[in-house]
Amino acid sequence: SRPEIVVPAPLPPFTLTALERLFTVHRLWEGIEDAALARVRGMAASTLAGPVGEDLFARLPALEIIANFGVGYDNIDVAAAAVRGIVVTNTAGVLDEEVADLTIGLLLATLRRIPAAERFLRDGRWNEGPFPLSPSLRGRRVGILGLGGIGKAVARRLEGFAVPIAYHGRTRQEGLSYPWYASAEELAENSDVLIVIVPGGVATRHMVDARVLTALGPDGVLVNVSRGTVVDEVALVAALESGTILAAGLDVFDREPHVPEALLAAENVVLLPHIGSGSRLTREAMGQLMVDNLGAWFGARRVLTPVAETRHLIPA
Ligand code: GLV
Ligand code: GLV
Repeated sequence: SRPEIVVPAPLPPFTLTALERLFTVHRLWEGIEDAALARVRGMAASTLAGPVGEDLFARLPALEIIANFGVGYDNIDVAAAAVRGIVVTNTAGVLDEEVADLTIGLLLATLRRIPAAERFLRDGRWNEGPFPLSPSLRGRRVGILGLGGIGKAVARRLEGFAVPIAYHGRTRQEGLSYPWYASAEELAENSDVLIVIVPGGVATRHMVDARVLTALGPDGVLVNVSRGTVVDEVALVAALESGTILAAGLDVFDREPHVPEALLAAENVVLLPHIGSGSRLTREAMGQLMVDNLGAWFGARRVLTPVAETRHLIPA
């Protein structure tokens, strides 16, 4: 018989359809009987939905694997999963290029004030005079906070803009020509643009705080495409209001979909509703990789993209 899986929160319809081809799928939000809960061996979670932790694990005694829709898995209590022997997979790799494209788009939109310029035109103000001159990307030093798959894809694109690139990550990576800085603050000190791509979670919470923003400086631009929790949002609002930094481009927020009023009212920010990986092509690829991870597990093959914290639970 087909393995039974649970989907705790809605997924794109094409992904649900792909899951239903292989598994018996229970939609948690539609209600699920206790007898079925006891048979559930897999979960298809989503990084864009609610948290997945002990509350849910306690109701799913047969759960073996959680396949996450998303590269970030700060939505999942991975430590609690590991204790219960539950393997976790993500969708690493398939969204790097898409998120990097969006990052460059957001960076340029923020520096060249593209959304404000478009509003200016639509508001019929062009005949009143030219749109105010903007800052430039050229001549800026770009710091990448978190040089993983997405960070490297961003760096590759930035090479084309001929701007100096540096990075901070937990470790200095071999074989890279970009300077490495030992802390976020040192990187910010030596950057005019700071691009945040470290994973979310407790280890990176408020990594970009008031000190880092002060180090970035009055001409500095912050771009965040990873998780809102990495940036101290209260400190960011204060820094934007006081001119401690010049501007920010944000695709993520601390308590999505809530966006602070102060950011909505600010002129020097570009705000996006967490769309980094949000193209049809990439969301389909993410869905397929999630399905393939579950298919591999239940077909006794190696899962494709296990997260580091539960890799030891995978049979050799
Ligand atoms: C999106 O935010 C993801 O983690 O994939
Ligand atoms: C990269 O993301 C790191 O934290 O090293």
